[in-house]
Formats: sequence, structure tokens, C-alpha cells
Amino acid sequence: MTLPRRPEPRPGVLQIEAYVPGKSAAPGVAKVHKLSSNETPLGPSPLALEAIRAADHLEHYPNGSATRLREAIAAKYGLDPARILCGSGSDELLSLVTGAFVGPGDEGLYSAHGFLVYRIAILAAGGTPVVAPERSLHADVDALLGAVTERTKVVYLANPNNPTGTYLPFDEVRRLHAGLPPHVLLVLDAAYAEYVRRNDYASGLELALTAENVVMTRTFSKIYGLANLRLGWMVGPAHVVDAVNRIRGPFNVNGLAMAAGIAAIRDDAHFGRAVAHNDEWLAWLTREIAALGLDVTPSVGNFLLVHFSGEPGRTARDADAFLSARGLILRRVEAYGLPGALRLTVGTEEANRLVVAALREFLERAAAHA
Ligand SMILES: Cc1ncc(COP(=O)(O)O)c(C=O)c1O
Repeated sequence: MTLPRRPEPRPGVLQIEAYVPGKSAAPGVAKVHKLSSNETPLGPSPLALEAIRAADHLEHYPNGSATRLREAIAAKYGLDPARILCGSGSDELLSLVTGAFVGPGDEGLYSAHGFLVYRIAILAAGGTPVVAPERSLHADVDALLGAVTERTKVVYLANPNNPTGTYLPFDEVRRLHAGLPPHVLLVLDAAYAEYVRRNDYASGLELALTAENVVMTRTFSKIYGLANLRLGWMVGPAHVVDAVNRIRGPFNVNGLAMAAGIAAIRDDAHFGRAVAHNDEWLAWLTREIAALGLDVTPSVGNFLLVHFSGEPGRTARDADAFLSARGLILRRVEAYGLPGALRLTVGTEEANRLVVAALREFLERAAAHA
């Protein structure tokens, strides 16, 4: 056997295209509105900032079990803290769950425009990503169930999904779960759950508490405005929590993140303001952008997908360049197979109004040059 002349990564690793975060700068533009990463325009709770300022003893390792944070989350949702595991962002938990259940020869399944981290986590674990088609930018339960094979180990569903902003009613999630063999783990990624205002939606908490093969992941990065600190949590059956707990880093959540998370989750007033802001401006942006003649995928999150024409001068790429030059940074979504769209995060009132005005100008100029 000839051995390689240098260390080689495991199969799959070099198939990964490294995750490219949303842009945050526009060269030469003084004031930038970053609307590319689904961050909240309200920032974190002032109580979270206070908790960080009060933090002390950075020379000590943090509590490796995130005990007080798990208790605070458990108190908010009426859970048993033993069923909760915290992570450095829900990204870390998605990777850990994958690493615990997917290996070479196994498949991880998600839908066509599902969150990109699933693919990265599956390949990094040595598994094979399998993609089920969607219907009108919605996850399709029948297609997902049809793509399950005897090698499938994990099925991932972002609900609501990023970057489409669409969601599956809970009946559909139940139908997906009911159709899966009991040894397949269903991961419900509910990063945007707090924003959803639909009676037929549920984050999946109930399934994660009652089924033996369902976990739900949540994040402090979105409505709680703590993306920079990297903080997420998951809830699931004891045997899954136990498995993931064995492979996580001993101190995977830092103390500042825990202190901020505890304060943030108790600040109902700030949370309420963030929900109200999103309700108002998501609806406004959807209405105003559609009125410009652009297709907007109806979203239940804190972002929306805007579709552009394929005609030269009117494409998503052209619109991105036009908006960026004015300090309005949106997200290109080619990596999600959506080259004709841009994803727009709901911003401050100022940013939202600027985006609509800039899109209007973009379309008027394109029409004038036609
Ligand atoms: C669907 C979805 N899941 C998970 C995440 C990861 O969030 P974090 O790792 O910041 O908790 C994101 C962030 O964009 C997301 O859109």
C-alpha cells in the first residue's frame, strides 16, 4: 500500500465549500446597514449588556454544564434542565448531533433550500448529504420521506427555513415524523421560531419532549441579538442529549455568553419589542417590495427573499451591486441554489425605508436603460 506523502483530510472534508457569512462592509460607503445575516436591528437586551459588564474572573473556566443557563431556559419553557444542552451557537449543536449520529456510509437528509450548515456537518462527519426537492420553496414532506433510505440517519428541517422564510405547519411536521423509521433522528432547527405568528406553527418542542427520535435546536443569535457571543441550545430525549454531551468540548459555552443569555431570556419587554418591530416591518417590506413589481416569498421569519428578473441590468447581482454602493448590504443566495434572489433582513425603520427607496430607484433606472 502506498501511503500519502502528507496528511490527508478524511473523505468528504474537501467536498465542503467553507461557509461564507453575509457581507458586513461596503467599500467607500460611510454608513452601512447590514441586512445580510438575519441579525436583530434592536440589538441585545440592555440587561444582557449589564450582565456582561458585571462579569468577573475571566481567568476561571466557565461552568462546563451551563447549569444556570439551562435552568433559565427550562424555567422559561417549563422543561427539565436535564433535557437541555447548550452550545456555542446552534451551529455547534447541529454539528455535534451530526457527529454523534452520522458516519461514513450514512446519509443525512434535508430539503433543497435548507440551511447550508447541514451539508457541511454531514460531510464533516464523513456522511453523505442527500437533498430532497421542494415545492414552491417549501419543504415537501412527501419528497423528504421518499428520499429516506436504509442509510438515512438524520433528517434536518429548518422551520421556518433560512433562506426562504417559509414554514411547515405543525401537522406537516408531525406527518414527517410519523413517516420516519424510529431509528432516524429528526432535527427540528427552530432558529426563527420566536418570530412566527401563525396559529398552525409550533417549534417542535412537544415532539422533542415526547418522541425518542426528535431534537429541537434554538438560538440566542436572532431575536435575542447575541449572535456575536455564540449561544444556542437543544432539547431532546435523554439518550440523544447524553450522546451529544459526551462529544462536546468540556467548556463549549463561555461565561459571558451564559451570563448574557440568562439575562436576555428573562427580559420579556425587550423580546416583546423585537416581535412587534418585526411584525410591523416584515409586513411593510413585503407589501412595499411587492408593490414595486418584485416577487417576494411570503416569510414568517425576520427576513425575506426577493426575486429579480434574469434580464441584464435587472438581475439579483445588479441589484446587489446597486444596493451595496448605497451601504445596503443584502445576502446573495447562489450558494442555496437561488441565484435570482437576494435575502433581506428586516432592519431598522431607517434601513427598511432606504432599501425600498433604493430598489425603486434601481428598477426605474433599469427601465430607463431598457
Ligand atoms: C436556520 C438556521 N439555523 C441555525 C442558524 C445558526 O445560528 P447560530 O449558530 O448563530 O445559533 C442559523 C443562522 O443563520 C439559521 O439561519
